[in-house]
Amino acid sequence: MDIKALIFDLDGVVVDTAKYHYLAWKKLADELGFFFSEKDNERLKGVSRVRSLEILLEVGGVQLEEDVKKKLAAKKNEDYLAYIKKMTPDEILPGVINFLEEARIRGLKTAIGSASKNAVTILETVQLLDYFDEIIDGNEVSKAKPDPEVFLNAARKLGVKTQECIVFEDAEAGIEAAINGAFHVVGIGDKNTLNKAEMVIPGFAEVSLDTFLKLGK
Ligand code: BG6
Ligand code: MG
Repeated sequence: MDIKALIFDLDGVVVDTAKYHYLAWKKLADELGFFFSEKDNERLKGVSRVRSLEILLEVGGVQLEEDVKKKLAAKKNEDYLAYIKKMTPDEILPGVINFLEEARIRGLKTAIGSASKNAVTILETVQLLDYFDEIIDGNEVSKAKPDPEVFLNAARKLGVKTQECIVFEDAEAGIEAAINGAFHVVGIGDKNTLNKAEMVIPGFAEVSLDTFLKLGK
């Protein structure tokens, strides 16, 4: 089946926001009195805000009431947003704009499929909102990746079949979500970690759309 649409995860695929998530989560861990390493932060990739907090508390061996957790997640988000609001288009990952422009010229549809509830804010801040036909984010899904809901919603809104889409993902849970929804999937990052993807690339710098369109054949 010919490829008609491209669906992009946001964090770690289009922009590098993991460092800001880390700084905001680390501040919270510091305040709670334990160390949260960059390696621990890897476990939060692709994972929802609520689940991220649970993992962080597991790392620190801390148990809290639900209402306290809610407040801490909101506070972390305020700190995270303070970083996000200062982002500039320079922080769009290399090659992404060219790739999106090529997709448009070739008549492919594009969407964001992200767990983040801040997706629109981020896209507006780095001036990328107009590059996508549809944005499906953490505000519109009830089931987190590896459930395919976010990508299925994107395909439905774009009016294409899942086998006509390529999902680009940097997180294992996201790759599994794409596989669970019968999408083609390209991993962005490390080949060994993302070995369930059909193809893995380090990023979009100097890659052409033709490299991926053959996945539809
Ligand atoms: C994902 C990130 O895209 O969004 C996760 O990879 C993050 O690390 C999740 O926890 C939720 O993001 P937000 O912006 O809604 O807190
Ligand atoms: Mg990601």
